[in-house]
Amino acid sequence: MKNTVATFKKAKETGEKLTMLTAYDYSTARLMDEAGVNSILVGDSLGNVMLGYENTLSVTMEDMIHHIKAVKRGVKNALIVGDMPFMSYQVSTEQAVENAGRLIKEGGADVVKLEGGADVCEQIKAIVKATIPVCAHIGLTPQSINAFGGFKVQGKSIEAAQKLIDDALAVEEAGAFAVVIEGVPAEIASIITEKLSIPTIGIGAGAGCDGQVLIYQDMLAMFSDFTPKFVKKYAEVGQIMSNAFESFIKEVKDGTFPQKEHTYKIDSSVVDELKKIIK
Ligand code: KIV
Repeated sequence: MKNTVATFKKAKETGEKLTMLTAYDYSTARLMDEAGVNSILVGDSLGNVMLGYENTLSVTMEDMIHHIKAVKRGVKNALIVGDMPFMSYQVSTEQAVENAGRLIKEGGADVVKLEGGADVCEQIKAIVKATIPVCAHIGLTPQSINAFGGFKVQGKSIEAAQKLIDDALAVEEAGAFAVVIEGVPAEIASIITEKLSIPTIGIGAGAGCDGQVLIYQDMLAMFSDFTPKFVKKYAEVGQIMSNAFESFIKEVKDGTFPQKEHTYKIDSSVVDELKKIIK
């Protein structure tokens, strides 16, 4: 069954936990979809894990559309969340609606996600008015690293926690159907989750959220530039890949790959005849 915003609404009512993983390509998206994940986020984290940038700020609309299209081709049931890149929605509500529309129309996303709280509510309202569902994203929002002065856990003081709660209530009021909470103490994320009637999806925000999201290269130990504390490594796929690459290199060098079973057959009479006539 296709996951929709209604699936998210129902999960909040019934208490069923929601799952979200990032993906940026066809093959990975297909594996996740077949595994039954509720939602696939084509995150602007692709700047780090796919394109090798230091942060997400250089990611463009074209990058996002390119990767959303690839994911779309691999997905039957998961809700596809297209992330709005830095400076695609901050300048004006018109620009925000236009770019959200491009992620849906050109990329094939089902919904969009954007970072920010009360400061982006006008954009959320305008995008929702254009019938595009919006997932908000508060807390340690990576597009604001320069304003934060680095990747810092948010909401640790009374004032900062109150601001996070206000931001969560504001995005709900603006019409967001869900909110990602990133890099926030578990107790604060739980308070927000209890206060909201829309689901919270946590990443580094504890078990009290209505769902969880992870970046797939983190959970598969494929990305070693930095690993946040909240990441659980479900499999050492990075090591498995390295071993396979080394084995391939060794076997090609020493002549043990390819073997006969990896080659195509031809009638020997054809080869014999060819050898006679070949110049
Ligand atoms: O871009 C991304 O992958 C995200 C997740 C960290 C939630 O926004």
